Amino acid sequence: MSVLHTFMVENVARPASISTGAEPFQVDPGDGWRKARDAISIGATLPSTGSQGREMTTRRYDFRSDTVTRPDAGMRAAMAAAPVGDDVYGEDETVIALEARVAELTGKARGMFVPSGTQSNLIALMSHCGRGDEFIAGQDAHAYKYEAGGAAVLGSIQPQPIENAPDGSLPLDKIEGAIKPDDIHFARTRLLALENTIGGKVLPQSYVADAVALARRHGLGTHLDGARIVNAAVASNRSVKELAEGFDSVSVCLSKGLGAPVGSVLVGDADFIGKARRLRKMVGGGMRQAGIIAAAGLYALEHNVSRLADDHARARRLAEGLARHDRLNVDMPQTNIIFLNADESVAKEFADHMAAQGILVSGRYGQQRWVTHKDIGDEAIEAALDAADKFFASL
Ligand SMILES: Cc1ncc(COP(=O)(O)O)c(C=O)c1O
Repeated sequence: MSVLHTFMVENVARPASISTGAEPFQVDPGDGWRKARDAISIGATLPSTGSQGREMTTRRYDFRSDTVTRPDAGMRAAMAAAPVGDDVYGEDETVIALEARVAELTGKARGMFVPSGTQSNLIALMSHCGRGDEFIAGQDAHAYKYEAGGAAVLGSIQPQPIENAPDGSLPLDKIEGAIKPDDIHFARTRLLALENTIGGKVLPQSYVADAVALARRHGLGTHLDGARIVNAAVASNRSVKELAEGFDSVSVCLSKGLGAPVGSVLVGDADFIGKARRLRKMVGGGMRQAGIIAAAGLYALEHNVSRLADDHARARRLAEGLARHDRLNVDMPQTNIIFLNADESVAKEFADHMAAQGILVSGRYGQQRWVTHKDIGDEAIEAALDAADKFFASL
């Protein structure tokens, strides 16, 4: 069981029974337990038993990640109506449309729909690097640190991590120093992998251009983990295409801030995607009537892009409100992700208090990560700030 899971199980009031009041969704009405479980996480009112056995009402606001969003009625309708075919045969027109849409958005020739960002990064790394090759990435890069070592385990690719600078970049001199000479003692350095946004920060665009040019000079390929590239584009007032420029491949997630339930698209040139399609089949990512989920991605790109600015504004408001408490050291967010450190004199009590108020965040005591997203409205921000104010007022 993960630390986070343990944290939630230990700290969040469990409902004795659940009445949602509001609509949650129309699917599978006979399946009571599942409907109830889902209603909990979208912030339904829960009659539950407090620590003294009194009835109390708890709403849950889920700030753990932008991956927790639920498809809304419009997205579900688009999914239900999607034309489908067998995508392994290349016959699913909704998948084909989504791949073309993301290729166009990023300025690349081809796209390939995959179930997850992890698989997208893995396939990209395996397309760029062979057995015994090496990729350079940040110590904090998702593709290095949070993907279960997939490139090493499944691709026999050696990672060469580099400490990220505070702005998320990899210093150019460190990249250059890490590129191995052509010598039988060394793995062959093949690829530079960057991430944008990284920890919610937008990489400076002039830095990206310099890093990509450096990689080119040394004959390296370039991959961008753009799980949140659309957040980066909205926050920096640049097009996604501009942020993707110069990279041989880019992975774009639809299931983060964009609010689709599943799916990423890997883009690159025709040769790269040709290779990637074989690897996708190898790792089990070839899906059949995948248009049903691809439709959610198309819907997200049509309806959920400009609203990312709301997530960023709410994150800013939340961060400013939390920063009023001098025992919280809050990093001001550039996009939808806030990191904060609670002073150790209050860290545990603060985390327990917020959890008891139904405010879910990532991390345990000390450092916390708060993420705003489609299902976090103004009310959630006010509830979180109110809970924090009450905690610090009670000290
Ligand atoms: C930057 C980044 N890349 C890749 C992923 C992996 O995406 P998935 O969870 O769809 O595998 C994540 C997941 O949160 C991420 O934050």
